[in-house]
Amino acid sequence: MLRSKVAGIGIYLPEKVVTNHDLERVMDTSDEWIQERTGIRERRYAKKHEESTSTMGAIAARRAMDDAGLEPADIDFVIFATLSPDYFFPGCGVLLQRALKLGDVGALDVRNQCSGFIYGLSVADQFIRSGMYKNILLVGAEFHSAGLDFTTRGRNVTVIFGDGAGALVLQPAGDQDSMILSTHLHSNGAQAEALAYINPGCHGGVHLGTERFGYPNQEFGGAFLTQKMIENEDYYPNMDGQAVFKSAVVKFPEVILEALDANGFQVSDLDMLIPHQANLRISQFIQKKLGLRDDQVYNNIMRYGNTTAASIPIALYEAVQEGKVKKSNLVCLASFGSGFTWGSALIKW
Ligand code: ACO
Repeated sequence: MLRSKVAGIGIYLPEKVVTNHDLERVMDTSDEWIQERTGIRERRYAKKHEESTSTMGAIAARRAMDDAGLEPADIDFVIFATLSPDYFFPGCGVLLQRALKLGDVGALDVRNQCSGFIYGLSVADQFIRSGMYKNILLVGAEFHSAGLDFTTRGRNVTVIFGDGAGALVLQPAGDQDSMILSTHLHSNGAQAEALAYINPGCHGGVHLGTERFGYPNQEFGGAFLTQKMIENEDYYPNMDGQAVFKSAVVKFPEVILEALDANGFQVSDLDMLIPHQANLRISQFIQKKLGLRDDQVYNNIMRYGNTTAASIPIALYEAVQEGKVKKSNLVCLASFGSGFTWGSALIKW
């Protein structure tokens, strides 16, 4: 049976380091609060007006292609996962295709937030298993700092997120090669608004009442971004942190066990778990629940914050660079996030 493997990996992290103390200067928060609740010490912010989600993604992608020894003409499909795209449309996939001077290949945008990379990996894996494509570029990138509320009102969300990008090249695997063993995807929209970026949007105010979303009662127009939304500054992400925490600590372990069970493995067989870097407390909770040792879980949220679709490839890259993921290791990637969506990928590295 045809399988896929990771043939190249690359990341990009913006230069600008923003510490918790830097945030203390613009909002009522503290280094102590942020570290205690999230484990985060610092994060990176992209350069406004110079960088974007697609430019960061393109650098990470170019590095992944170099790692795989590929030229632009070799790439036959692009998958781009992000929740902070350059434009509402078109998606970042075509911007990356243009920036890297790829051929007229398909470019798919994935909108599954923190699970975007795992969803994209699953799609890439299926395309390679089916024999449709041979060199797929999978990118996860975020420019969160462009859309966060830097007043005290937004502090519960803003302190968590950072910018960055990561990319993989996926190719068909040989019999004895490293390979993706399986992917598992889930979603449940019952709490869709618990972690959401609602305005601007085309929801028409229908989900949670018109008033809050500033929709004027007029026959045509004014439905995407209204004057009232601007006046109320009602255009930032919102998060019910406790609802997210409660679901995350159940769904993460479930989907990790699902991946292990499906392939006849047990928790003790796992060499490395790379969870989406949502919050260090969530990662620690999963580790404890599964009975994993410290050397079986990789975390780098302390340095980069939560980079959503980019967090798994950035963490995977660093784990490989640090020699913590080695050839033939059993590696599980897992995610949980807005939607809610969650997923896992089990890889023989
Ligand atoms: N600095 C200082 N105080 C803050 C901050 C901040 N940055 N943010 C919130 N507070 C205050 C609140 O205003 C509140 O004050 P009050 O008691 O006077 O009203 C107090 O801290 C407690 O607020 P809670 O929201 O109840 O804080 P909680 O203990 O739940 O911690 C947190 C918040 C860290 C978000 C927690 O709920 C959590 O870890 N949730 C998981 C969500 C998460 O990690 N999301 C990551 C992104 S989603 C993803 O990737 C899956």
